[in-house]
Amino acid sequence: MPPVGSVRILQLTLAVIKPDAVAHPVIFKAVHEKILNNKFLIVRNKELSWRREDSQNFYREHSGRFFYQRLVEFMSSGPMRAYVLAHEDAIQLWRSLMGPTKVFRARSTEPESIRGMYGLTDTRNTTHGSDSPESANREITFFFPEFSVSHWYLQEEPQFRMGTVFYDSEKQIHTVHRD
Ligand code: RTP
Ligand code: MG
Repeated sequence: MPPVGSVRILQLTLAVIKPDAVAHPVIFKAVHEKILNNKFLIVRNKELSWRREDSQNFYREHSGRFFYQRLVEFMSSGPMRAYVLAHEDAIQLWRSLMGPTKVFRARSTEPESIRGMYGLTDTRNTTHGSDSPESANREITFFFPEFSVSHWYLQEEPQFRMGTVFYDSEKQIHTVHRD
């Protein structure tokens, strides 16, 4: 057992590989591997496509912005891959791996970040990540309505933290066995 106080609690975030990257198998694979190499636990993972209304709804906070229509069109233009990821400080970690939103900034200041390496434009910028615990809860429920965030923290989080974790490479998710 680690000493009391050193156990950090796992946090959930919602990560999305956007249509530009899913359309390119090599980029898709590289981003998926980045998730695994950074020791995220993949709690849920699915491919889906949005209707225009889903895209408008998800990005309604940006509805007054100049890029909104472009963003809505793009995010409903083809399949994407959504993940529920768990890690200590998952929200912050995933956002730092993504790098800056704007591709020019990403390339110049963080060339090794996901957007620095694979981002095409400010709209087609490879990935999405929740920006706070509140948006993570909302966005996880948006993509995975059958998934209960509170139940996961209560029941599953302690098992993932203390049990033995396996990666199922066929389903591309992690499972836990109690020790
Ligand atoms: P995200 O929500 O996608 O994880 O990224 P973010 O927080 O860094 O970016 P946010 O400001 O929330 O913007 C959401 C998405 O809108 C598109 N965008 N385009 N053309 C532009 O200037 C512009 N600015 C933002 C991007 O696809 C961004 O990820
Ligand atoms: Mg955002």
